[in-house]
Amino acid sequence: MGKNELIKVFTARFGKEPQHIFFCPGRVNLIGEHIDYNGGNVMPCAISMGTYLAVSKNTDKLLRFQCINFPETAELHLQESYTKTGKEWFNYPLGVINEFLTKEIDLCGLDMLFYGNLPIGAGLSSSASIEVLTAFAMSSLFGAETTNKELALIGKKVENEFIGVNCGIMDQFAVAMGKKDKAILLNCDTLDYEYLPFEIGDYVLAIINSNKQRKLADSKYNERFAECRKALSILEKKLPVNHLCEINFHSFEEHRHLINDPVLEKRALHVISENFRVGEAKDALSAGELVTFGKLMYASHESLKDWYEVSGKELDTIVDFCKTYKDCIGARMTGAGFGGCAIALVKKNSFDDFEAQIKVYYKNIIGYEPGVFASIIGDGVGELS
Ligand code: GLA
Repeated sequence: MGKNELIKVFTARFGKEPQHIFFCPGRVNLIGEHIDYNGGNVMPCAISMGTYLAVSKNTDKLLRFQCINFPETAELHLQESYTKTGKEWFNYPLGVINEFLTKEIDLCGLDMLFYGNLPIGAGLSSSASIEVLTAFAMSSLFGAETTNKELALIGKKVENEFIGVNCGIMDQFAVAMGKKDKAILLNCDTLDYEYLPFEIGDYVLAIINSNKQRKLADSKYNERFAECRKALSILEKKLPVNHLCEINFHSFEEHRHLINDPVLEKRALHVISENFRVGEAKDALSAGELVTFGKLMYASHESLKDWYEVSGKELDTIVDFCKTYKDCIGARMTGAGFGGCAIALVKKNSFDDFEAQIKVYYKNIIGYEPGVFASIIGDGVGELS
């Protein structure tokens, strides 16, 4: 669906044209998984797919939420604050509006039509996308002059407090701050960041959607979050650290016996090694050593599979295939895991063959096909002209 069609649907539903159309992308994470909430470094990119919002102010003192992807709609009277209702999609933008109410903006009625072309629940950050999209729209519509970094923090706060998922800052930061053809190297402790040219020459970054819905993802995610906090609470008694990612291998080896719980030890091992890999991946990318970068992707996947235990048969099947495919030099799950997507570096002129072969291989083992597409690294949130 293009912009014109969105305007048409909006006009048909609300009887007037939208005053603004905003867009916010989704993201892939190249490396640095499950370490944003442990104060680590991550390397995400915004992608060209994402979420659109067509919006107009109304004088009816009503917030009207509609979405082309879901049948559920909402029509809420203006209030001083809102709370989450059920599990419907509109809780994400509602949580953001609720957050803006604390900024003492002069809220008026809004007619909102959302549309997303990100596969839902595929780990490409459709929720961060709709959060940051709404935050950007609120800031523009009500002159709040919020910086993009602040938009990311608002999105994270909504996800943590309104929605109830203890996510880190990575996804919201990536979709707010993304830049075309650049990866973001983000320190999730200080929020310092730099853009790294994502120059992959003869390769494409393939996204392979396992098409396995991430059903229990939120509860499992919170479980990992709690495990990391527990490991940290033991180690910080002896080590002067605020995050697991501040601990280096040497010091971890010396102190890991204190944890005295094999599961927590594995979780910490993943976190500490993954943070180290991000540093190596940055060097490899900067030096144009894509083969080394690819090996680090495979190593990251192994760690997520064996130590962090957030992969699964579907994602492992994708990565297993990639390892045997001659023109693929690296692959890993991306995002929270438990289903969702994997990414792979594949030679450009072998992409069609890769797509055909992985579909057959995956279907033989899993019973249905994966989605396969080449990603385009795009800009962060903005208004469409
Ligand atoms: C989800 C969360 C992020 C991050 C990733 C795993 O996408 O929203 O904050 O923790 O999982 O790296």
